[in-house]
Amino acid sequence: MFTFMNPEVGFTSDVIKDPNRFVGRADLVSEAIAALNSSLGLIAIYGKRGVGKSSLTRQIQALANGDYELVRRAGLNHLLPKTPRSYYTVYYQCDSMISGANDLITRLCNDTNEEDGLLRLVPDKGKALTEFSRTSEGSVGLDLKVLNWGAKGQEAAKYTNAIPGDIIQTFRNFASSVVDNNNRIFRKRDALLILLDEFDVIKDKSGLGSLIKSLSSDKVKFGICGIGQDLSGLISDHGSIGRLIEQGSIFVKPMSRNETEEIFNVATKLFSNTVTFSKECIGEISDLCEGYPYFAQLIGKSCVNEANTLGTNHVDIKILKIIKNKMLSGQAFPSLEETYQRAIGQSEDRAMLLALLAEQKDNRAEYDAQLGQVFLAKSRSSAQELGVEYMDQLLPRLIEERYGPILVKVPDTRGSYEFADPVFRAYVKLRRPGRL
Ligand SMILES: Nc1ncnc2c1ncn2[C@@H]1O[C@H](COP(=O)(O)OP(=O)(O)O)[C@@H](O)[C@H]1O
Ligand SMILES: [Mg+2]
Repeated sequence: MFTFMNPEVGFTSDVIKDPNRFVGRADLVSEAIAALNSSLGLIAIYGKRGVGKSSLTRQIQALANGDYELVRRAGLNHLLPKTPRSYYTVYYQCDSMISGANDLITRLCNDTNEEDGLLRLVPDKGKALTEFSRTSEGSVGLDLKVLNWGAKGQEAAKYTNAIPGDIIQTFRNFASSVVDNNNRIFRKRDALLILLDEFDVIKDKSGLGSLIKSLSSDKVKFGICGIGQDLSGLISDHGSIGRLIEQGSIFVKPMSRNETEEIFNVATKLFSNTVTFSKECIGEISDLCEGYPYFAQLIGKSCVNEANTLGTNHVDIKILKIIKNKMLSGQAFPSLEETYQRAIGQSEDRAMLLALLAEQKDNRAEYDAQLGQVFLAKSRSSAQELGVEYMDQLLPRLIEERYGPILVKVPDTRGSYEFADPVFRAYVKLRRPGRL
């Protein structure tokens, strides 16, 4: 009997907070447990776009909060110390409007988000809050407020040490009040964990490393997450962090085939076994997504949609074939297609060039191959064979920021680029240019 199914029950393109949806990554989870249980040190989570960094960071937040569901499910219980360190946690998503270190700390000190913001943990949030964010601009007033808050007891002493107009000191005061104050009310926790997602988009990262180092202590731990192939891509003055990072450097690679396949088993569970996928179909989808869970979730969703249309709850290779055909003509994934159209700008030649670049094979060692570099020179002769002329004139649009950018120049190389979004690259491989 057929039941109409909402694809969102089993698949999502959102960051994954729910440990029951989170697949694989046992090695990274165990690294995270170790990092959380050391009293000093910074956690850095980096990797390519769409690979699952934010989802992992959310899982780390849950672990820090003392939710070990993920550990139990992954069979990693034995890695937990007898009394794991637990944290009050802050999760902040950076954006490109943040100019630098001061700006970032100001934002943190003003974040009123009820689930993830720093202020929710700072004493006497309530009434003073609206006033607080209003006065924060001329930050002189801000510290006076703080002074007023500490009405009695220990905090008062701490707050009176605030230096008016000094946001860094204000942050220190906030941070140092969090653990003591909240431990009076809640179950005792050891420290404060501040997770900063999309750290890579902060414009001027100079000095951020040493600032984070100076703000870290056994009571305050930072975790930063963002796009980068290595630590230096994420934090420019990473040298100054030195030993802080020894344990907590977490590189998120594309998923293994098994992990990608597991996404579909988990989806079946989430669908309460109503929707099933043939083994062959799961295998093929896992090949198509090249280890990017975002693409797996997307294809999974559209398979379930298609199955609904056909009145079945079993997704097999025939349904996948329909989706693949839709991809060929650009009808399957509107948002990826929009990026595609913007990139090629109605030029068939550019579409061909893009396809050739996306298809370039990489026979180097695994680490290099993960860089996903493509070389202009490599595609030149095939481009000529296909009648694509003036390759060098087609390229600029693909590099320009306002059209994506689709390609990013790899520094210190000649004619070498990287697809800014590997999921998009995988999509281009499945999207046939008009002339073919
Ligand atoms: N461990 C995982 N298991 C299943 N799906 C995942 C996992 N990690 C990420 N995803 C999916 O992949 C997509 C991208 O994840 P996200 O965490 O936002 O990546 P990033 O922050 O690296 O861009 C989302 O659709 C998310 O649902
Ligand atoms: Mg992210």
